[in-house]
Amino acid sequence: MSKVLEYLRNRRSIKNFNNKYNIENKELDILFESIRMSPTSFNMQPYKVYYIKNKEILNELHSYWWKQDSVINSSGILVWTVYKEDYLKEIYLPNQILKMVPKENSSRIEGINKGMSYIMKDRNISFEEWAIRQCYITLGCLMPVAKELGIDTCPIEGYKTSVTNEVLEKYNVIDMKKETIALACVLGKAIEEQNEHFSKNKKRLPLEDLFKII
Ligand SMILES: Cc1cc2nc3c(=O)[nH]c(=O)nc-3n(C[C@H](O)[C@H](O)[C@H](O)COP(=O)(O)O)c2cc1C
Repeated sequence: MSKVLEYLRNRRSIKNFNNKYNIENKELDILFESIRMSPTSFNMQPYKVYYIKNKEILNELHSYWWKQDSVINSSGILVWTVYKEDYLKEIYLPNQILKMVPKENSSRIEGINKGMSYIMKDRNISFEEWAIRQCYITLGCLMPVAKELGIDTCPIEGYKTSVTNEVLEKYNVIDMKKETIALACVLGKAIEEQNEHFSKNKKRLPLEDLFKII
């Protein structure tokens, strides 16, 4: 059996964390690397990721994050941000392309620009929305790696975007003119009492409802 599949099968989105547990820097390095190595469309990596363990910030976020206790009891939160539409299109993506492709290769650069514009139009989405989608791919890559390290996770979409941005700017984490929160994931260690039932009782649709081989 695949080891990665085993981690996916056995992981749960943990709600109750041991508030004494700290993630070591060398573990964080591995988690960051799992995000960095994730594939993204045109290899643009259009995100930044902050690991927030500062209790003052977490306490302040708690009430805007649906009062989810994992926000204050976990070891910390990974927060993905993306650049806002204009900055992304005008500054970030052109710079990023030049990091990947030599500027002399104008036909390749034009090809990437055309390809990206095609996708946004065809899917009827903004560049910002496309960038947010890339964050979710990295979340999917992160979680089995965390499980392998014995670190529990819970993805978080349950927050109020506008106030979160304001709090993060107040603490000089982000620049709201350019950045907005895209996604989050709490990290830590489940409390011992997290019952066996919860960890084993993983619910999924049956294979036949989801897949068809043609
Ligand atoms: C993108 C995303 C956002 C989520 N947001 C929340 C959240 O805000 N709070 C929460 O308790 N769980 C959240 N979850 C966890 C899901 O509810 C959970 O993954 C799902 O019920 C399946 O359970 P499992 O992860 O334990 O297998 C989120 C999951 C994903 C993938």
